Order: sequence, then C-alpha cells, then structure tokens
Amino acid sequence: MSTQALKQMPKQTPLRDLANGRLYAKRTARGVWSKKANSGNWEKLIANPKSYVNADGGYQEFLIRVEEYLMSDNDIPSGAGLDIGCGAGHSLRPILAKSASTKSTSSASTNYASDISPIYGIDPAEGMIKLAKARLPSVTFIQAEASQLLELFEAKTFSIITSRGILASHVRAHHWLEITSQVFSLLKNGGVFAFDFLNTKWFEDNPKARQGRRHKFKYTHAEIEALMHKAAEQVSVNVSLQFLYEGRASIALVKVHQLPS
Ligand SMILES: C[S@@+](CC[C@H](N)C(=O)[O-])C[C@H]1O[C@@H](n2cnc3c(N)ncnc32)[C@H](O)[C@@H]1O
Repeated sequence: MSTQALKQMPKQTPLRDLANGRLYAKRTARGVWSKKANSGNWEKLIANPKSYVNADGGYQEFLIRVEEYLMSDNDIPSGAGLDIGCGAGHSLRPILAKSASTKSTSSASTNYASDISPIYGIDPAEGMIKLAKARLPSVTFIQAEASQLLELFEAKTFSIITSRGILASHVRAHHWLEITSQVFSLLKNGGVFAFDFLNTKWFEDNPKARQGRRHKFKYTHAEIEALMHKAAEQVSVNVSLQFLYEGRASIALVKVHQLPS
C-alpha cells in the first residue's frame, strides 16, 4: 500500500537566498545547474571517470554500493522514497531498483512485503527537473531545495532517502544538522538515509589530487558520525551508521530507530 507522503507542493515563493552560508547560492542552484542540464553534457559528465562529477569513480560507486545495500536489507519498512538534489534523476537508481524488487517480491506472497512508493525527487534547478521528468515519468519531481523537506512532506512517511553529490562538497556542518534532522524526521522506524561526502583522509593521502573550487568542504568519518548523532538527538531518534565505501567521496548509510514513546 502506498504512503501519502506529500503534504503540499511548494509555494511559488523565491528560494531562500543560499549564498553566504546557505547551501548553494540561488544563482548557482537555479542558473548554473539548469545551464548544465540544458547543455546536453550532463549525461556525458556522469559517464566519464575523468570528469569532476565522477572523480575516482565515486558516482558509480554510489549507485552500486547503495543499491547493493538496499537489496540486502530486508527490514526496511514500507513507505515513500526520496532523492534530495536529484538532478536529472540518475541518482534515483538505487531507490528505483529497490522499489521494483519489492514489488515483485511482495506479489510472491512472502512475509516480506514492503512497498517503496511513491517516489520523489527534489531539486531547485528547473532544467534538471525537466530532464528528470522526461526520463522518469513514474517519479514525482518537485522544484524545491533541501532545507524545505518538512514544508513539503509528512513526518515518518519515508523508507529510503538518498542524496548524492550535493551534500558532498557544498554543505557546512550547521547545514548538515538542519537538513539531516529534517531527513530523520521524515524517516520511519528502520528507514535509511544514504549520502556521500568528501573524505578529508583521502585528500590527505592524495595531496596532488585536484582539490577544485567546487569542493569546499571535506569531512572525516568521525566528523560525519558526530554530525549524524547530533542531528538524531535534535529530533529524538537513535541512529546506527555504517560506511559503505571509503574513497574520495565516501558513502555513509544511516538507519533510524524511533524511540518508544
Ligand atoms: C552534482 S549534481 C548531482 C545531481 C544528482 N544527485 C546526481 O547524482 O546525478 C548537484 C545537484 O544538486 C542540486 N542542488 C543545488 N542546490 C541544492 C539545494 N539547496 N537543495 C537540493 N539540491 C540542490 C543542483 O541543482 C544539482 O542538480
């Protein structure tokens, strides 16, 4: 049975100005990313291991490792799926794969009948949303940004939330807290949040690697762990965390456990 997770479509008010400590500058999110989407190059960048978006194969690792994890976790509850900063929709692949597999499993009258639907993608760049809608008509795409989650969605209605390539390099610690605590509020007991982040240690071990103007923020695994626990504390849930991959962009997987009320 599918969950009604969407509260309302965002009001057409301007996005909050994300400059100076906000996630992305409004100009960047709406303009630059839309331009990338419209350039026709986005798909090529993703596939190219030398491009900054797929550096060190990190993009592909995310898709593979998160999908592998989701397929192996049979305790994920039924509920909605969401990809934050979904771009053209490619990073929805792990959620879509899990959703497809649970549909076929649940029809086989087993005890395992979790249903991952409906599925949403949010992104502030109109151009990306347009591409995503054309690629994946079964997904609901909304032009919105990461700090609007609780405005858009009902709490405790999601099974899986992912975010690839947005939190990784552009988010300061206090925004991690703001966004992650919203993510944890949306997740059901046993729900999971998978995301990537730039790994301080990798850059220390590879001092000649291109740092890149875009890659402003890096985190150690211990810092990510501390941030996740702090966000969990803010919304009174427990979390368990594992790293699915340690590379240039490391991949973290957090499972939310609701405290008994
Ligand atoms: C590197 S792309 C990654 C796209 C997609 N996740 C993927 O892996 O293919 C970064 C995306 O983050 C989006 N973005 C920028 N600011 C955002 C914000 N405040 N909230 C959510 N997404 C944002 C951009 O529009 C862009 O589509």
